[in-house]
Amino acid sequence: MEQKKFYITTPIYYPSDKLHIGHTYCTVATDAMARYKRMTGCDVLFLTGTDEHGQKIEDKAKEAGVTPQEFVDNIVKGEGGILDLWKLMDISNDRFIRTTDAYHVEAVQKIFKKMYEKGDIYKGKYVGKYCKPCESFWTESQLVDGKCPDCGREVYDAEEEAYFFRLSKYADKVQKLLEETDFLEPRSRVNEMVNNFIKPGLEDLCVSRTSFTWGIPVDFDPGHVVYVWVDALFNYTTALGFLNSQYDDYEKYWPADVHFVGKEIVRFHSIIWPAMLMSMEMPLPKKVFGHGWLLLDGGKMSKSKGNVVDPYILAEKFGVDALRFFLLRTFPFGSDGNFSNEALIQTINVDLANDLGNLLSRTVSMVGKYFDGTLPTARQEDALDHELVEMASTLRSRYEEQMEHFAFQNALAEVFKVIARANKYIDENAPWVLAKDMEANGVRLATVMYNLLETLRICAVLLTPFMPKSSAEILRQIGACEACSTWESVAHYGSLRADVTVVRGDNLFPRIDMAKELEALEQLAEEAKKKSLPALEVEPLLEEKVDFETFCKSDFRAVKVKACEPVKKSNKLLKFTLDDGTGVDRQILSGIAMWYQPEELVGKTLVAIVNLPPRKMMGQESNGMLISAVHTEKGEERLNLLMIDDKIPAGAKMC
Ligand code: ME8
Repeated sequence: MEQKKFYITTPIYYPSDKLHIGHTYCTVATDAMARYKRMTGCDVLFLTGTDEHGQKIEDKAKEAGVTPQEFVDNIVKGEGGILDLWKLMDISNDRFIRTTDAYHVEAVQKIFKKMYEKGDIYKGKYVGKYCKPCESFWTESQLVDGKCPDCGREVYDAEEEAYFFRLSKYADKVQKLLEETDFLEPRSRVNEMVNNFIKPGLEDLCVSRTSFTWGIPVDFDPGHVVYVWVDALFNYTTALGFLNSQYDDYEKYWPADVHFVGKEIVRFHSIIWPAMLMSMEMPLPKKVFGHGWLLLDGGKMSKSKGNVVDPYILAEKFGVDALRFFLLRTFPFGSDGNFSNEALIQTINVDLANDLGNLLSRTVSMVGKYFDGTLPTARQEDALDHELVEMASTLRSRYEEQMEHFAFQNALAEVFKVIARANKYIDENAPWVLAKDMEANGVRLATVMYNLLETLRICAVLLTPFMPKSSAEILRQIGACEACSTWESVAHYGSLRADVTVVRGDNLFPRIDMAKELEALEQLAEEAKKKSLPALEVEPLLEEKVDFETFCKSDFRAVKVKACEPVKKSNKLLKFTLDDGTGVDRQILSGIAMWYQPEELVGKTLVAIVNLPPRKMMGQESNGMLISAVHTEKGEERLNLLMIDDKIPAGAKMC
């Protein structure tokens, strides 16, 4: 029988910032699917990559003072960049495309020309609204409260000569595709696309830009670069060798079996993408699956909001497999989910430490203790076995049903129902009681242990796409051979050797101290937030003018510090005794204790405004105010007293 092909893709990510847990979610889901399909015997091609052109990247590179290519190279290949992240997260992609790769550039130019020659791309004038961060054009009617309907940010008027793709020509065909086939899932997204975008009338799409240069040049019209979404969407085919000679398996793998994409880019993948493929007379992908977002405090994560969650930190703290597992166990793939550190730790503690980890360590240690690590082959079955054996024997088909629908959460729920049942089976059979009389109960005890090991084997194989390393370790500890660690083997209860030998190993999922770890994570988040804050901020200049006479009414004088001490019961105030040149000491209180030690100020010459009305603070009078310079550094306010040349005598007037 010919091996089934399975071509699966993630979106290609913008290397405009470091990726966060939301991007990781999408890639881990795709990876789990790819691993599952490989396990079931498919010939899988799993593609991911980066979408490197566009104005946003050009602007960011300028800000960073590097070329756009240097900028993206750093985020993709640099230390802690995208390639490193996927390696860390155990992502098993077969190919990685960068849209700046020469073969892709060349192919996109050919594609653009082909659609132009066909008459599906024509030259016109673009007048509309443009959202820079999303690199999207919008018509007035598509805006929400005058803002970008995707990200809610400001849009700008844009007008320029441009090429257009005849999207309107394909509107009916695309609507049919969405409504009459299961091209787009979940089905709820179909109504959204049809009602919000197709029914109001699909306008032709602006597919070239002249206002920036960081894009693929339209080779027959210098000055125009290809709209980044046209460039990006065709990655799914150029990465197979379409219209280029880099690869040679377009015929083999296209059309894709599924594109996994986030919900905000479903519009591009389910309307624009099929329309362009229709224009190119290419087969359509079999499915687009629009997954939900991971939210933080109910809102989308974004670097600009400063609320991104760093997958590096979580993977380092809790382990890659635990993080991968959490992402797919906790959130239904098609809907939004609220990320929280509590939920992560809770899932690890309950599912992994308590249920799976305990089942493994109890089973392996009991086989070690009662049978010296190797089970005898005689068996004695009992009615108590039936439910567990039945559940474990039929698990694969229930799991498969869910996986085939990309329902990762449900597939994992099926596995964990069996794990819970196995833990209950231990309590029901009380092996420690059986072990008291090995002569009478040894055979029964061996049967109980075998059922536990066999259940663990089936669960571990099915958990492999989610937790590749931990599952392999479970299989190693329970003594599963290669042949009984396969997809085929989990359809057969009893594949494990009757005289199996277990190997004790490390505790795979140690329990996490919730309170302690939450505090540590909060601290790390705080530090990261500080790092992402601007290095230096000063208050904007005041617009309002003050007339000269008013200014002259403020009496600024040089003052010398005779004494300085903290004000009792205040952690902010310092009390100054000052020489202001009048011969009578002046007392001023100033809220600068955070920044200065009193003794370091004695003898300094400062500036004070001396004709403010007296004010009482903490029961003490203050006659005037010392002048300071204020700015913010990494989100923290800094204050520096204005110190002037000691040669200036006390009482000298500032003017
Ligand atoms: O959209 N939760 O790139 P991108 C879940 N270059 N998914 C999230 C997420 C979150 N909090 N944040 C982002 C692009 N994503 C284009 C794709 S494909 C031809 C071009 C997902 O880096 C997002 O939904 O902005 C999208 O699917 C993916 O990350 C890439 O986002």
